[in-house]
Amino acid sequence: MPQLVEISQILSGKYVGEEVTVRGWLHNRRSSGGIHFLMVRDGTGVIQCTMKKDRVSAETFEVAKKITMESTIELTGVVREDNRAPGGYEIQTSDLRVIYRAEEGFPIAKKYHGPDFLLDNRHLWIRSQKMQRILRIRARFLKAAREWLDQNGFTEFHAPTLITAACEGGATLFSVKYFDREAYLTQSWQLYAEAAIASLGKIYTIAPSFRAEKSRTRRHLTEFWHLEVEVPWCDLEGIMRIEEEMLTYILHRLVEDPIAARDLGALGRPPKDLLRIEPPFPRITYDEVVKILNDDGIRFEWGNDLGWVEEKHLTLKFDKPFFVTHYPRSAKAFYHKPDPKRPEVTLSADLLAPEGYGEITGGGQRIEDLNELLERIKENNLNPEDYKWYIDLRRYGTVPHSGFGLGVERTIAWICKLSHIRDAIAFPRLINRVYP
Ligand code: 4AD
Ligand code: MG
Repeated sequence: MPQLVEISQILSGKYVGEEVTVRGWLHNRRSSGGIHFLMVRDGTGVIQCTMKKDRVSAETFEVAKKITMESTIELTGVVREDNRAPGGYEIQTSDLRVIYRAEEGFPIAKKYHGPDFLLDNRHLWIRSQKMQRILRIRARFLKAAREWLDQNGFTEFHAPTLITAACEGGATLFSVKYFDREAYLTQSWQLYAEAAIASLGKIYTIAPSFRAEKSRTRRHLTEFWHLEVEVPWCDLEGIMRIEEEMLTYILHRLVEDPIAARDLGALGRPPKDLLRIEPPFPRITYDEVVKILNDDGIRFEWGNDLGWVEEKHLTLKFDKPFFVTHYPRSAKAFYHKPDPKRPEVTLSADLLAPEGYGEITGGGQRIEDLNELLERIKENNLNPEDYKWYIDLRRYGTVPHSGFGLGVERTIAWICKLSHIRDAIAFPRLINRVYP
């Protein structure tokens, strides 16, 4: 058998004139006259394989005629450059072996399917070119994030998923029966991260978080991947710098990668949009946002958290990510440090993606003082008993510190210009969907 190669290697221009074998799934097919066009997909790419009647045995030509979509095959032929072929290269088939013939009637047909149908058939839909592209970008996004964090002295740290006290408020906690008591699925690693900085210094994690979000929106999942960072000896400005440096590095890495750049373009995101993003990102205060909204005729009361409508309006004014800082203490979780100069607001910052997308990170400076923390716990009607170990951290070597959490799917949705967050993850979990 001629050498087995990956399709991406062929598409990168190697192997022209050579005989190769590829192995994969029959992604698509059509025939015209004495020629079959077989699109073969192997996980690294899709390549057109032409089969001419006079170049193969009558038997092989017949096999190709009857082969069903998504059958697994092994195909041999010579690579040719051809600008009529999608991707610029094709294989002139000399031999074809069917490994497993797929049943007739692959549910994903070449026609319009509604979103519910595609979600019900997600296990098959993830084979689509669109999902392949998004999932590849997602993987490269996380790889680049790890690169930046590792190069900048952060240590990866893992916090538990089963927890006993809310980080982001009780309303979105999923409860789990934990033997004869109740536990919850984590909303954020944060409280544990604040413990771990005294062990490891600057840390990060990339892990699932869970929110029992009762609303149906284009930007809420009930299970999402959370890239979180926690840093001792760091203030609000310090954590914003880390966020903008890290995100810029990731975006530029994506664009430098020819495969990711091609995928972005195909999804409708011109890579140059991402290349011109550079630190420092604009910073506006919550107070300024309230003024902008009200000036534009969107009634919004000081003290509330920004919702979808407000963020959408605001972010349409920007073509780069920007920070909104100093949210009121009434709009933020108990651990946010009140601004000593103006205690009705917190030293907090959300990073908002432009073009109508909205919040992609939440974070800021944490309370390091024991009494201030106890006061905020009381103010939020939380039970100090539930936070006993967390409060301990302020007793034994407390330190000014800050952190943030980035929603991976929210960020991917913006980067890839998706209209719904569900396509930023292979198997989305939504209020009405935990299958497949
Ligand atoms: O703003 P959030 O709630 O902040 C925290 O959880 C902090 N404890 C993080 C930290 O400081 N370590 O969530 C952070 C980010 C949001 O900005 C958003 O991008 C994402 O997590 N997120 C969601 N993504 C998808 N679906 C949901 N239901 C999400 N909830 C939050
Ligand atoms: Mg938030």
